[in-house]
Amino acid sequence: MSLRDKVDTGKLPRHIAIIMDGNGRWAKEKGQDRLFGHFHGVESVRNIVEGCAELGVEYLTLYAFSTENWDRPIEEVTGLMELLVDTIRKEVSTLNKNNIKLHVIGDMNMLPEYARNELKEALDETSYNTGLNLIMALSYSSRWEIVNAIKSIAADVKAGKLEPFEIDQDSIKDYLATKEFPDPELMIRTSGEYRISNFLLYQLAYAELYFTQVRWPDFRKENLYEAILDFQHRERRFGKTGEQLKHESGIA
Ligand code: IPE
Ligand code: IPE
Ligand code: MG
Repeated sequence: MSLRDKVDTGKLPRHIAIIMDGNGRWAKEKGQDRLFGHFHGVESVRNIVEGCAELGVEYLTLYAFSTENWDRPIEEVTGLMELLVDTIRKEVSTLNKNNIKLHVIGDMNMLPEYARNELKEALDETSYNTGLNLIMALSYSSRWEIVNAIKSIAADVKAGKLEPFEIDQDSIKDYLATKEFPDPELMIRTSGEYRISNFLLYQLAYAELYFTQVRWPDFRKENLYEAILDFQHRERRFGKTGEQLKHESGIA
């Protein structure tokens, strides 16, 4: 039985979020420039997007560039930005063929104008698709997002559109960049780092976390299936006891 066949498609995580890490080290290990790693990381993106679409995952969020990544050496930032925008432009026809709808979350004001324009076109051109929702986190950081949300909430309270007592967990969600999407149920980070790096801090509250040593440019569908299988063997308790869960599902 292949790994793919072992995946229970009736119990898929609706939303998978991935911190695509390790491109630079992958390249350095091969005696190459860091950009070479980013370049090869694109093939993994294609493969994993395809894998999620084939399985029937509804939402896939890919952390492609963090707010903090702007502080990297200028050649890397420029090269990476060009690669990201170029890839998104070239992939639009494939996204359409596979009914994939593109979304972007992040501080678009930080992006160069050409990148903003290209992205807007890609968003418009895929906006009618109804299959996998592919969310690119670009120039994104969770603290940036939370600061923005708090500013907007404060402005709405001041304008009389929102009463402080109305603020609850759901209304906060409405002010986040991810308001259209359910919270990720599975978060994968590649390349052996065990941290969140400012990614979806509010949304990952109850996500199952999966870490693998595999560097992003080597990550393929088989690795994705492994992560999903691991997820499917976990007991998600949401604060309750294991006994309560069994009782609720009618097992005990
Ligand atoms: C992930 O790979 C891609 C981005 C952060 C843009 P890195 O570039 O962080 O690679 P490492 O972690 O240095 O190996
Ligand atoms: C997180 O990776 C951001 C992306 C994958 C886009 P980093 O490589 O930037 O994170 P740190 O610096 O190791 O925490
Ligand atoms: Mg890294």
